[in-house]
Amino acid sequence: MDIRLDGKTALITGGSRGLGKGMALEFAKSGANVAIVARREEVLNEACDEISGATSATVKGYACDVSDKGALEKMHADVTGDLGPIDILVNNAGASARGTFWEITDEEWAFDFELKVYAAIRLIRLSIPSMIERNWGRVINILNSRAKAPQPGGAPTAVTRATGLAMTKVLSGEVAKHNITVNALCTGIIVTDQIARRYDKAKPNITFEEFVAEAGKAVPMGRMGTTEEYANMACFLASDQASYITGCAINVDGGLSPMY
Ligand SMILES: NC(=O)c1ccc[n+]([C@@H]2O[C@H](COP(=O)([O-])OP(=O)(O)OC[C@H]3O[C@@H](n4cnc5c(N)ncnc54)[C@H](OP(=O)(O)O)[C@@H]3O)[C@@H](O)[C@H]2O)c1
Repeated sequence: MDIRLDGKTALITGGSRGLGKGMALEFAKSGANVAIVARREEVLNEACDEISGATSATVKGYACDVSDKGALEKMHADVTGDLGPIDILVNNAGASARGTFWEITDEEWAFDFELKVYAAIRLIRLSIPSMIERNWGRVINILNSRAKAPQPGGAPTAVTRATGLAMTKVLSGEVAKHNITVNALCTGIIVTDQIARRYDKAKPNITFEEFVAEAGKAVPMGRMGTTEEYANMACFLASDQASYITGCAINVDGGLSPMY
């Protein structure tokens, strides 16, 4: 199967690092023009240079905190002004957030909802009208494996990710007749900066590589995933080949989730 995204414009939040950067690279290799969004401009610039250097696609970076409504609206206007309407929207920006349920403050709940739920809702609201007009679109919501299988200690992320599951299903049914698919990826443990931050926090007496290998033993496949393995699934969902797949939440987790 030759997956091509030629002529498409993709917007990927959190596209300067980790999964987002991996998806941006794969989309660009497949011919899409890509807008990547993150807060730190220099990291964005490095990612744009790296992806542009490896592909012939147009790759542009937009510095924006997606949890800031005004900044997000300006960013969307800038992206569409530069690259045209969004064909493929990937709501990926996020960070791990976990605590004891009764100790999580209103501010921490609100922060997680703004970043992982409202940012996605607002970008969907801004992007869907032009997808409807052109009778084609793809929305991919990046969630985690706890969305389907919440566990003690998993809030607030498990709650906001479960919200993302419901959002994916509701929206998919509303826009299917416009040839727009809406799917979610339930992420297991993939080697990125998020994992590096977990390593730094835990300060274990082993190297990062040993930490990755050790944590990977909890996964049925015996290892953590790579950003490339992850991006392959996102690229397929973004393509014409996935035209009849919508309203799904697909585990990309090496078998980690107890749920289908
Ligand atoms: N890696 C995993 O194993 C794993 C597991 C489950 C779920 N996930 C989810 O998958 C997504 C990507 O994770 P990752 O591992 O690739 O993380 P990462 O390596 O830490 O990258 C996160 C990206 O999001 C950007 N970002 C963070 N907050 C932002 C904000 N407020 N506005 C705009 N951009 C923001 C970061 O750039 P700046 O810091 O410069 O803004 C960066 O580009 C996240 O939603 C994460 O929760 C990952």
